[in-house]
Amino acid sequence: MSHEDFPTENHAVVTCGLPYANGDLHVGHLRTYVGGDVFARALRKLGQRTAFVSGSDMHGTPVAVNAEKEGTDPETFALRWHETYEETFPRFSVEFDNYGHTHDETNTELTREIVRTLDEEGYVYEKEIMVAYDAEADQYLPDRYVEGTCPYCGAKARGDECDEGCQRHLEPGEVEDPVSIVTGNPAEYRERTHKFFRVSELQGYLQGFIDRLEGTANARNQPREWIEGELQDWCITRDMEWGIDYPGDGVAPEEQRNGDGDSAERRSADNSSGRSPREETVDGEDDLVLYVWVDAPIEYVSSTKQYTERVGADVYDWEAAWKGESASGSADGPESGGEIVHVIGRDIIQHHTVFWPAMLRAAGYNEPRAVMASGFVTLGGKGFSTSRDRAVWADEYLDEGFDPDLLRYYIATNGGFQQDVDFSWEKFQERVNGELVGTVGNFVYRSLLFAHRNYGGAPADVAGVSDEVRERVEGAIADFGEAVNDYSVRKVGEAAVRLAQFGNEYIQRNEPWKLTDDEPERAAQVIYDCVGIAKAIAVLFEPVAPGTCERLWEGLNEDGSVHEAGLGAALEPPVGSFGEPTEPFEKIPDERVDALNEKLEARVAAATADEEAEEREEADASADDGDFEPLAESRISFDEFQALDLRVGEVLAAEGIEGADKLAKLTVDIGVEERQIVAGIKQLHDLDDLVGERVVVVANLEKAELFGVESNGMLLAAGEQADILTTHGDATPGTKVR
Ligand code: MSP
Ligand code: ZN
Repeated sequence: MSHEDFPTENHAVVTCGLPYANGDLHVGHLRTYVGGDVFARALRKLGQRTAFVSGSDMHGTPVAVNAEKEGTDPETFALRWHETYEETFPRFSVEFDNYGHTHDETNTELTREIVRTLDEEGYVYEKEIMVAYDAEADQYLPDRYVEGTCPYCGAKARGDECDEGCQRHLEPGEVEDPVSIVTGNPAEYRERTHKFFRVSELQGYLQGFIDRLEGTANARNQPREWIEGELQDWCITRDMEWGIDYPGDGVAPEEQRNGDGDSAERRSADNSSGRSPREETVDGEDDLVLYVWVDAPIEYVSSTKQYTERVGADVYDWEAAWKGESASGSADGPESGGEIVHVIGRDIIQHHTVFWPAMLRAAGYNEPRAVMASGFVTLGGKGFSTSRDRAVWADEYLDEGFDPDLLRYYIATNGGFQQDVDFSWEKFQERVNGELVGTVGNFVYRSLLFAHRNYGGAPADVAGVSDEVRERVEGAIADFGEAVNDYSVRKVGEAAVRLAQFGNEYIQRNEPWKLTDDEPERAAQVIYDCVGIAKAIAVLFEPVAPGTCERLWEGLNEDGSVHEAGLGAALEPPVGSFGEPTEPFEKIPDERVDALNEKLEARVAAATADEEAEEREEADASADDGDFEPLAESRISFDEFQALDLRVGEVLAAEGIEGADKLAKLTVDIGVEERQIVAGIKQLHDLDDLVGERVVVVANLEKAELFGVESNGMLLAAGEQADILTTHGDATPGTKVR
């Protein structure tokens, strides 16, 4: 990777994955927004010119389906959520420079302009495809209107994404056994003409791009298999009304392009339907809107543009970031003039590392420098579910009256950014009481209180901090810079906490309270050093705990705002006198956690009961008398049966496969050897209970790979609930079953 270290001379833009304007925000979402906010603040501390932008994602079926459920039109519905988010983010100190939405004029215009460019450059073609349709409801079933099975991993999937399994984007028609969510009927298929973006043509470019891409490793690794495998073109239109209309007056026919041989070839090569693209455009486009994933990322650009329109290009120039040349080179590839950093959750990596960079490239924009993809926040090991109320809600946290900085700290530093985090109030309490209160708060409060009582602030007549302390603060500044260049939100937070740890050790070692009488000069130096460290903490900890650090800054009587202070301020001498300090953080008592836990457990239990009821219903439905599969007509010979090598096995270990909702990895002793077997039983059984069970294994089944894990054999189980076959007696592992 050839990018220059931050800070650079270029314009940086940090974006956060746009929230769908369709429901309450939860702590899972906050990982994206707190992560982005910490990173943007940290970049600014380094002196990088940075815009921090996002907006609400108003279109698509995620909004349309929920609006329909509520009986509201999608625009009113989405705008209401948009306004709620606008109010909620600042309450977590997530301060966007601009927060727009995808339905506003800026984004509508820019989206059309970009799509027209793609079209003009020959990157768009039309194709007839079969799309899901519900005859009873008389409507097409794009994306979330249909549910079925993922063709890649077998998980339950939505029309356009395998949200519970491999996280892949699915193209229209790909989901297997599609069922309409409107009536519950199996979907029918109808032929429709749709627009496709030639992502496949950009395969070579994307391969180079992914090698240059910085950020978290998952964002480079996950897409490799798609980029290096067969890259499909991408359907960019949908049969629905809500969304941005496909720009109908786009330039389709040959003569309106300006003679780029390459694109002429592209266009004619794909005119497979025999009709001219123009004709189809005219009769097909009335109710064709752009797929939500086209206009959504464009909002990153639109939102930056709105920021420039507000503050002026001399403060921040959106074109420098998105289109401009590097201050030190050409606008090609890594030399682009913008440091574009996308902060998202791991479910939307493919959109940000394949489709979006392809669009940017084709439309002549700069490419992202980094994608930071967070792990998921889970509850009891399972994904959040908005519809089932299996979540910790953003509002709920605020209603508890907790300081937002506590949650910010927990989210930002509990595990690496890529790791999944299982939310727990105990863990939250542990981090708050341990590091925030015990380390940072303790150091700051005790040293400032001592300084205030004995000297009315930082002792006068001290020339500056001691060499030891200066070096330690310089070390913390260096750690901070490294953390940003490593895209590690956690390390950004740790730089300040470590400094506070040092502070505690320093004050303990020097015992200034013993020195005041006999060695007043040394006492003054030690306390001055501690005030210096406290000031440095205010600067370094600001990205993670902006509210607390601003209060600390004011408490130290420092000028201006700590938000504006650069890292250099951490080494500048403290102002001097200040009043009595207050404790920066408060301990969370055990009773509080108990009460929160109780509430959360009840909610999770209710959600689980819901799920189980639904699963039973599904199982009952498929077990309905008339619904049993008919018995096979043909018979097999005894020899054919003998070909199956069925063995008794003993389960030695069982664990869920991370990231897969249904799959578990079992180690089974089949007498002759131990086997690793993957089975779709994660949600259906208590895995710990399976250990020690005697089961029946198909030992000579060919090996398979499920979710990247090798499965060497198969467990026999009955029906939808995977009722596992066990032995009635004590047959030893390895015994053949006949
Ligand atoms: N609208 C799309 C993003 C479009 S970006 C051009 C979307 N919206 S979302 O509301 O579902 O998610 C918003 C952000 O929250 C995304 O970055 C998503 O990855 C993140 N998360 C949503 N649920 C999450 C968890 N449970 N855990 C961690 N991040 C999660 O996706
Ligand atoms: Zn899948």
